[in-house]
Amino acid sequence: MNPILSVSNLTFSYDGDSPALKGISFDVEEGSYVAIIGHNGSGKSTLAKLLLGLMNGFKGTIRVFGTELSRKTLYQIRSRVGIVFQNPDNQFVGSTVADDIAFGLENRKVPHDQMQGIIEKFADDAGMRAFLDHAPENLSGGQKQRVAIAGVLAMHPDIVILDEATAMLDPKGKREIRDLIAKMKQENPKLTILSITHDIEEAANSDKVVVLDSGNLILQGTPDEVFSHVDALNAARLGIPFVIALKHELASRGIEVPSSIKTLEQMEDYLCQ
Ligand SMILES: Nc1ncnc2c1ncn2[C@@H]1O[C@H](COP(=O)(O)OP(=O)(O)O)[C@@H](O)[C@H]1O
Ligand SMILES: [Mg+2]
Repeated sequence: MNPILSVSNLTFSYDGDSPALKGISFDVEEGSYVAIIGHNGSGKSTLAKLLLGLMNGFKGTIRVFGTELSRKTLYQIRSRVGIVFQNPDNQFVGSTVADDIAFGLENRKVPHDQMQGIIEKFADDAGMRAFLDHAPENLSGGQKQRVAIAGVLAMHPDIVILDEATAMLDPKGKREIRDLIAKMKQENPKLTILSITHDIEEAANSDKVVVLDSGNLILQGTPDEVFSHVDALNAARLGIPFVIALKHELASRGIEVPSSIKTLEQMEDYLCQ
């Protein structure tokens, strides 16, 4: 299968001196959910900005659907990739929720007579239809991020990047976003998600984990593969998910838990049997 995104030997420096990314390479399959983890300052947001073509002067190549990112292909690629940032308050340009979703559509030259329907559909999906004429600043953090996600999805991207989109939310807000993402994956299995996250339990449930440490890609693979490198993760100041730690602990006592067991619930069922 051809990867939807292919990053090869990507190097970038802000100051022309110490690189924020050092020759990183990874592929992403269409429809997969990829978790990108790493300590603060490891280069995650730099990677996200480069994937969107927001910064020039990188070395290496970024390909989206086989098209290499360059000045010529920038707008074509950017129209296929959406991003939601960390700070809910920095996502808005419109004075109402509806305006905000409309802004992205106007940029993409969606005809005006189709806009209202699109806005309503995606606000509905995000559970925000009742708030279309509300001012974004009066919403909760979780509601703001749901509007931001609705705005991104309304533009029909192939890839959505979530750059710590739930980091500033309370547990309820985090749960709202998690549920919304699960719903949008169900509706559109081809949607590819790159989630930059501190939530190691989220990473445990992804298809692929990419680990950055000081600008280096130190590990990549399935959660089971990546989280078996406990020492490397500790050195990168990262923990391992509870279920996987439990698997290691059980294995050291001679109990092998199958790799199909991924969630705490499945683990409980398995151990009860
Ligand atoms: N606008 C910037 N100018 C200069 N250095 C930056 C800038 N943004 C980030 N950096 C540096 O690049 C490195 C990676 O930062 P970043 O990609 O934001 O990491 P992360 O998102 O993983 O926390 C850090 O050393 C950070 O200080
Ligand atoms: Mg960041």
